[in-house]
Amino acid sequence: MIPNPAQPFGSKILHMNSAQNEGTGLLENPPLLTSTTAHSSLLNPEYPESHDHRILIVDDEAAVLNLFATYLSETYSCETAANAQEALDILAREPFALVVTDIQMPGLSGIELLRKITEYYKDTAVIIISGIARTQRVMDAIRVGASDYLIKPCDLGALTISVERALERRMLLRNASRYKQDLENRNTELARQKRELERLQAQVLQAEKMASLGQLAAGVAHELNNPAGFIYSNIDLMKGYIERLKRCLFDYDRLALVPEAAEQIRAIKKEIDYDNIVGELDSILSDCYVGAERIRDVVQNLRLFSRLDEPAVTRIDLNEGIEATVRLLPGYYKSGSIRLVRDYGDVPQVNCYAAQLNQVWMNLLVNAAHAIDSAEGEVRITTRCNDRTVVVTVSDTGAGIPSEQLSKIFDPFFTTKPVGEGTGLGLSISHGIVERHGGRIEVESTPGRGTTFTISLPVDADLEVAASN
Ligand SMILES: Nc1ncnc2c1ncn2[C@@H]1O[C@H](COP(=O)(O)OP(=O)(O)OP(=O)(O)O)[C@@H](O)[C@H]1O
Ligand SMILES: [Mg+2]
Repeated sequence: MIPNPAQPFGSKILHMNSAQNEGTGLLENPPLLTSTTAHSSLLNPEYPESHDHRILIVDDEAAVLNLFATYLSETYSCETAANAQEALDILAREPFALVVTDIQMPGLSGIELLRKITEYYKDTAVIIISGIARTQRVMDAIRVGASDYLIKPCDLGALTISVERALERRMLLRNASRYKQDLENRNTELARQKRELERLQAQVLQAEKMASLGQLAAGVAHELNNPAGFIYSNIDLMKGYIERLKRCLFDYDRLALVPEAAEQIRAIKKEIDYDNIVGELDSILSDCYVGAERIRDVVQNLRLFSRLDEPAVTRIDLNEGIEATVRLLPGYYKSGSIRLVRDYGDVPQVNCYAAQLNQVWMNLLVNAAHAIDSAEGEVRITTRCNDRTVVVTVSDTGAGIPSEQLSKIFDPFFTTKPVGEGTGLGLSISHGIVERHGGRIEVESTPGRGTTFTISLPVDADLEVAASN
């Protein structure tokens, strides 16, 4: 028989002491509390998951169990268990949205079952139905996590409302926790995107700065190239001409002059400091020659470093690029306190944005020199090729990097240098450039011992693809 909610099985609290109903929970009197509206509101419930309308009813009294199951099965999918342990076994096999349980049962009590459910099946709501109507008990059950506490014999309408509310509350809680999780995920993603954006912004800024600096350097180099070239070659010519003029002068010197002319020449020689001039001419000329040679080298290195007169993507020998960069840093590497060891291997040419890679070597070499600072130390550059990958290491015997800073050094604007000395962009730019080449940049450091940066670059990088990534 399916009970009619209008003829309730019992009513809440008002009939809790009806002695004649203990056991079956049936009421003689008409109900004081019924609910049909609550029942009808559940006719079209929305259950996103199959177990959202699954209810497990637990009671050691078969009559009550069957009655509740039959009644609730009109709307929900119900299963029954005769005790708490059986209920736990069923819960372990499949999920339930709600457990409706008696309190007093042989073995585990309903409260112990409630505790286990709140601990292990957080997504399952629990309604306690008990013959005992002590306020403290009700409060304890609610505190442990029960959605509701009904007193036997209870009204079927009240049961309906209670079940409906428990399921609604469960859905609300679940949606709230999903929204919270979703918001947290979005927040994390936003924070990640913000960091990425800042990194890209910094890179674009620096790249623009470097591009204009590079253009400037290449422009200056270009303008200096011709005058430096003719100073250099004219000095060479001049050296030969002066040798010839000196020969002529020395021959004149040996000629016997009339005393008046001889006196006049002697006076002129004295006035112009002839002996010293002739003696110094050679060394002045060779100083000029060395100076002109240096200007020519700097100009050539600037052109090589900026590589603006070459196509953006080109195959180059990394050893050459590193060497051109080193030659632009005499302020750091010619002063004598830093020993520079170049251990260049036989490496194949690499497909790359040459000017950008030179920027990487520049950043690493300047950082290494800064790390050694005023102390004595060594910077070692090695290049090797493994399996179509060129591996460049730049290691120094400088101050090293504390482990808590290691994860930050590639972040834009991270610097330990005083304001005005470092922008904190060198490594983040270098990281971006190496990534653009489909390569990797790694660091190992021991505070007090030194640091090694290892850059691995594929020999045949597909730069169009890498750049669009
Ligand atoms: N070889 C190294 N030894 C020790 N610390 C280093 C080394 N290279 C980098 N660092 C640390 O990493 C930080 C970030 O380096 P990065 O090159 O990005 O910026 P920076 O050198 O401080 O400034 P910028 O390069 O913009 O002038 C440095 O401030 C320094 O603390
Ligand atoms: Mg730097």
